[in-house]
Amino acid sequence: MSAKRLSIPLDIADINLANEGKRRTEWAASEMPVLARLTDEFKQSKPLKGQRIAACLHVTTETANLMLVLKAGGAEVRLCGSNPLSTQDDVAAHLVRDHGISTFATYGADRKKYYEQINAVLDFKPTITMDDGCDLVHTLHCERRDLLPGIIGGTEETTTGVIRLRAMAADGALAYPIVAVNDADTKHLFDNRYGTGQSTIDGILRATNLLLAGRTVVVAGYGWCGRGVAMRARGMGAIVVVTEIDPIKALEAALDGFQVMPMSKAAPLGDLFITLTGNINVIDVAHMLKMKDGAIVCNSGHFDVEINVGGLGAAAKKANASRDNVVEYIMPSGRKVRLLAEGRLVNLAAAEGHPAAVMDMSFANQALSAQYLVKQHHKLSKGVYSVPRELDERVARLKLGTLGLSIDKLSAEQKKYLASYSHGT
Ligand code: NAD
Ligand code: ADE
Repeated sequence: MSAKRLSIPLDIADINLANEGKRRTEWAASEMPVLARLTDEFKQSKPLKGQRIAACLHVTTETANLMLVLKAGGAEVRLCGSNPLSTQDDVAAHLVRDHGISTFATYGADRKKYYEQINAVLDFKPTITMDDGCDLVHTLHCERRDLLPGIIGGTEETTTGVIRLRAMAADGALAYPIVAVNDADTKHLFDNRYGTGQSTIDGILRATNLLLAGRTVVVAGYGWCGRGVAMRARGMGAIVVVTEIDPIKALEAALDGFQVMPMSKAAPLGDLFITLTGNINVIDVAHMLKMKDGAIVCNSGHFDVEINVGGLGAAAKKANASRDNVVEYIMPSGRKVRLLAEGRLVNLAAAEGHPAAVMDMSFANQALSAQYLVKQHHKLSKGVYSVPRELDERVARLKLGTLGLSIDKLSAEQKKYLASYSHGT
């Protein structure tokens, strides 16, 4: 461990965890071949040379590998966590000790510390922001406006962050161009669906050791994440109920073979409830008062607002911590409602987040979007932008290649046919 490296600005829990962080980050790298390919390319061409990237992301082994790609591309990087319960302290220690990356993230940070860490990342006057949930960008626009002129652009990782950015843009409040990485097909079709599908179940099982087979699992929200969780819960033998507010998604869930009903009807039926809506109070106190004894409630949406946790605490007679990441609330009826991970993202708080093989694509989009911003920012105005289609397809082709898969190419005849309207019955 070099003293020089440790003299960088940082706020981490324990540098002695670095060996474990290093081992686990290298393990994740072995599942991230697309990022490895971009690292080789970035080492040669240095597309991010001179850029200062402020990243507010879940501090996981997968994120560590993204930081290394950005550094290989010539950027100076600072990292803070995007959720108080998702930081893996060993990874933070590894980034600091072995890569000299200034990291400000501690597991269990309270709100004050969480925002201090965001501000510490902003202190180095970034040129690019890389956010997951829009807390960094929001802080920048509200409290650190002096830094706005130095910023060429940003990227946003998740659905909730993109929604907040679009609201800022609609209000005329967004001060620079931001690429909605979430909206790339090679992001949400895989990360939100298969990543959240698997890692949410993983978090629930690590927290509870529950047998899913034969249990009634209520999935709130049938968007990309909800579809993935419903699919995987069914695969493990659960009876799956879906709740929705969108008639088209509800119909899709019904034709996919799930029971569809409002939360008020599902509340007394479910053994396990999972919210993935990006919305507030989707499971409210009135629902929890009706739940079976021992019902488990958890959330895998970005913010801890989907379950009314404050209301649950106020309604309950007593609360006991019964296992790591499980608090049991004794309701006035004497029935217990068990809340996982304080209502925060259960897949990142009680497990490790999405598997690296899926984050490989999400983070390839992040790295390529940063490169795109450097090249194109002078042509972009304030607003929310899509990942260019050619970059999205490039990520898909690279991933297919690493899976040893090849696909057909349109022949000249097929191209001509698809562009014509003269052939009929
Ligand atoms: P999405 O927009 O595809 O789906 C959300 C669904 O929730 C929509 O179909 C919407 O109609 C539905 N909904 C909204 N309010 C509802 C309500 N009151 N009751 C029932 N359904 C309701 O979004 P998504 O990509 O699936 O993301 C969902 C959330 O998960 C977001 O907060 C996103 O940021 C987050 N997310 C988390 C992870 C993770 O690692 N846990 C990964 C990706 C996204
Ligand atoms: N979001 C969901 N899973 C993640 C992971 N493993 N790393 C970073 N961000 C994530």
